[in-house]
Amino acid sequence: MNSTEKKSLQPENPSLTFKSDIPNGKVAWKSPSNIALVKYWGKKDIQIPCNPSVSFTLNTSVTETSLEFEPNTSGGVSVEFYLDKTRNEKFETKILSFLEAMVPYFPFIKQLKFKAFSSNTFPHSAGIASSASGMSALALCLCSIEKQYFNSLSTDNEFYEKASYIARLGSGSACRSLYGGVVSWGEIAGVNNTSNEFGTCLNDNIHPDFLTFKDSILIVDAGQKKVSSRVGHGLMNTNPFSNERFKQANTNIATLLKAMKENDMETFMSITESEALTLHAMMMTSMPYFLLMKPNTISLIEKIWDYRQQTGHPVCFTLDAGPNIHLLYPERIEKEVNSFIESDLTLFLHDSCWLKDSVGKGPQML
Ligand code: PMV
Repeated sequence: MNSTEKKSLQPENPSLTFKSDIPNGKVAWKSPSNIALVKYWGKKDIQIPCNPSVSFTLNTSVTETSLEFEPNTSGGVSVEFYLDKTRNEKFETKILSFLEAMVPYFPFIKQLKFKAFSSNTFPHSAGIASSASGMSALALCLCSIEKQYFNSLSTDNEFYEKASYIARLGSGSACRSLYGGVVSWGEIAGVNNTSNEFGTCLNDNIHPDFLTFKDSILIVDAGQKKVSSRVGHGLMNTNPFSNERFKQANTNIATLLKAMKENDMETFMSITESEALTLHAMMMTSMPYFLLMKPNTISLIEKIWDYRQQTGHPVCFTLDAGPNIHLLYPERIEKEVNSFIESDLTLFLHDSCWLKDSVGKGPQML
């Protein structure tokens, strides 16, 4: 069965409206950000990726969202959005248009007046994808209302699949934040239940060492993003290397998943680092072009490579669409790597700032 035929994901489901007694209530979720190993960069149609991607779900970098609701008589969608207890109009406008777009999937949205309270455990300046944690937390809140009042989404499978599908419509990479461990998004040849429309947990075929991996996030620069994801994805439409890149991502996923199954650390590190540099190469070769690394990003990469060569420790990096570094390594060498960061890397960091994160277990209802 094609995923679009799944009953739980079908839009325009009139049974999801309150017939009488519109409730007051509250639902709340804590949901993590994620960091891609094979990157999603380039999309088509409505948030459909041009290539599959794979990520680690994070543990401490999370958004907590509570969604309060009461009967709405306005006829339109109504929401107030608070970030860290302060009303935030910029995000409110975004959340309002997202909720309007979600009415076909949750027709009850129009019958409720919402107040959303959100806070992130990580600083805005960290360049961590707050859209992934934020949109997945909101999608989970909407699915919880559906489950609670309409007796649908009764299996975990249906529940998280719809939450992932909805989160994807808010921010593509958010659909990978619905599960713990290692999660893919996009059809992968030979891997069951992978889809362009929602994320899939791959932990069953991953060596357990990867499920306790550490991610030390090294803050090189605390400035705003130079290029938004929306603009960045759009640039892939005219990038002369994009088709080769989409093909390469498919090959890289196959190689990476095999390496993660067999605990082949060398291959894991080389694919992960190559993917990070390729993402940045795509930005350098777009028109207009962007250079998102800073001199200290390069200095840190060289330090990491020297350390790896001298100690033999399996430490590698990845990058998001910005200058900060995610340093990835197995839990068993955490102490040594932390001393290395403190002694050799903090000099290159903004205010000596780095965040301790690790692979996490996925969202939690509050
Ligand atoms: O989910 P978006 O539209 O913000 O795009 C995310 C793109 C990258 O973070 C650069 C890569 C990825 O796969 O997460």
